Amino acid sequence: MRDKRYLMPMIASDLDEVEAVERVVYTFPWTRESFEDSLNNGHFGICLRNDADALVGYCMMMLVVDEMHLLNLCVTPDAQGKGVGVTLMHEVVQIARTHHINSILLDVRLSNHHAIRLYKRFNFVVIGRRKNYYSLLNRAREDAIVMRYSMSYSVSVLQFSAMKHSDEYGRCVSKKTFLLRDAALDSMREHPERNRTKARAYGKS
Ligand SMILES: CC(C)(COP(=O)(O)OP(=O)(O)OC[C@H]1O[C@@H](n2cnc3c(N)ncnc32)[C@H](O)[C@@H]1OP(=O)(O)O)[C@@H](O)C(=O)NCCC(=O)NCCS
Repeated sequence: MRDKRYLMPMIASDLDEVEAVERVVYTFPWTRESFEDSLNNGHFGICLRNDADALVGYCMMMLVVDEMHLLNLCVTPDAQGKGVGVTLMHEVVQIARTHHINSILLDVRLSNHHAIRLYKRFNFVVIGRRKNYYSLLNRAREDAIVMRYSMSYSVSVLQFSAMKHSDEYGRCVSKKTFLLRDAALDSMREHPERNRTKARAYGKS
């Protein structure tokens, strides 16, 4: 039976586990300081946990004006291939929508076929290549593939015509959703334990 999973904003107390997972998963992991800096700089981290509260995946996003950069996406080895990456990516796209982001950008190693396949499944397209961008062992280098998800492609004709014909109503609804969500996330950040139930409701199972 599939376990229940829930999403929470990443906070400082998650970083022991996040750091441990990074070290197991990546040859060149982010340091704890990288995560601390990201959170301190207002970047947005999400943790996905199972019903035993164990971390199964996380991601880190940076919002710059109308663009989102997906800086890190990682699933624990035991949980890989079980839909965790898909759940996190759904959340990434949802957060981008809520914040009226135009496009999501990411870099991925040329050899990372699983990740590239996941991103393509979400309609990310390759828009460029950075030569020798990533380190490899033995001082070798590997290219990065730059991928982009354009929000405008994903707006359905129906949504578009609703926005076009009732602009004011549409704006009002999306702004309200945006504010409610931010308030919930703020509250969860401040009182993570007290808000576990809320997080379960907010997250997906
Ligand atoms: C890449 C990664 C995020 C995918 O997450 P995941 O939870 O393992 O993937 P999911 O189970 O949600 O599967 C989603 C898609 O990923 C791809 N994928 C995942 N595991 C795969 C595997 N073993 N073989 C082939 N494709 C795979 C597939 O496209 C799959 O969709 P499909 O089932 O329709 O074919 C995860 O494997 C991971 O953290 N890897 C190590 C860190 C990393 O590379 N992060 C990305 C950096 S850019």
